[in-house]
Amino acid sequence: MIGLKVPRKEANQARLFLLENKILNLDFKIKRSLDYVYLPLLEKPGKDLMRDRSLQIVETEFEEAKRSPRSMEEYLKGQIPAEKMEDLKKSFDIIGEVVILEIPEELEGEKKAIAEAALKFTKRRAVYRKGSEVKGITRTRELEHLAGEDHSETIHQEFGTRIMLDVKKVYFSPRLATERKIITDQVEDGELILDMFTGVGPFALSIARHHEVEVYAVDINPEAINYLKRNLELNKLQERIIPLEGDVKDILEGMDLKFDRVIMNLPGSALEFLPTALEHLKPGGVVHYYQFSRDTDDPVENIKNMAKDRRVEILEIRKVKSTKPGEWHVAVDAKIN
Ligand SMILES: C[S@@+](CC[C@H](N)C(=O)[O-])C[C@H]1O[C@@H](n2cnc3c(N)ncnc32)[C@H](O)[C@@H]1O
Repeated sequence: MIGLKVPRKEANQARLFLLENKILNLDFKIKRSLDYVYLPLLEKPGKDLMRDRSLQIVETEFEEAKRSPRSMEEYLKGQIPAEKMEDLKKSFDIIGEVVILEIPEELEGEKKAIAEAALKFTKRRAVYRKGSEVKGITRTRELEHLAGEDHSETIHQEFGTRIMLDVKKVYFSPRLATERKIITDQVEDGELILDMFTGVGPFALSIARHHEVEVYAVDINPEAINYLKRNLELNKLQERIIPLEGDVKDILEGMDLKFDRVIMNLPGSALEFLPTALEHLKPGGVVHYYQFSRDTDDPVENIKNMAKDRRVEILEIRKVKSTKPGEWHVAVDAKIN
């Protein structure tokens, strides 16, 4: 095969030049003699590269380099069809030290290889496969342990917020990070906020880290509230967030507090809680309402109907994330006078 022969003292400069021009063959080892270095080439350098240079191209043998794969695709090459690889990449969630993958039925036989590759390339501690959709009142899913340790508690970092959780016991999606930032940026100091379905508290924590506010953070899942309490300590936010365990309707009953802002991230059934949210929203307050786009009702119409004779000003409508092909998790920010 062809190589470039250069005096030893020029070897490094030549290597960089070949790398820069993408003609150094990385699958073979560089060879050295007493006075010269031989660099394996992918192709003969073109006339433009040869200009002003007296490069000595020689025919010689090179030893094959045993290098480790540089990407998950490379590692799984030949085992997984290319189009399936694209789907796998899209289904990847990294939550702290935990990787969660969606592996289709057709790749059942390859699941261990895929999980080992994911473990290796993410350098995380555990790999799980989604075993179901998120379901039930706590919005958790079944997870199948595939590689690394079977340790599902972890600390996730999101824009500097530390979020401790157990992926098996509570809902958490790293794909909502941008949404949390969007909401946080709308908040002003001094607000009284209700996070109706707080989970382990990612919205509440993000807001309270950036603003002097008071947040009532409610969740029906005791595990979620326990982690929220630990997250308050981790982020030193005990003064700004009040964790409350129970059904938000029960908790608000008889409470005559009115909030400046209400966050309603329970997209499957938020409509059912809209009257409660509006009842506890100050005139001029903002509701962040989430809904799945497959639902036949238009979320804006839902808010207008529930607001009755209060004036509704739609501030923004966003597609937050894709949930299934053709279905979106949609957000509506609405000011209710
Ligand atoms: C989609 S998760 C959202 C959690 C959190 N906001 C987040 O972004 O990670 C919805 C949460 O609502 C809680 N939940 C469901 N029904 C509830 C209710 N009636 N009252 C309070 N919390 C409820 C579930 O336990 C779950 O943690």
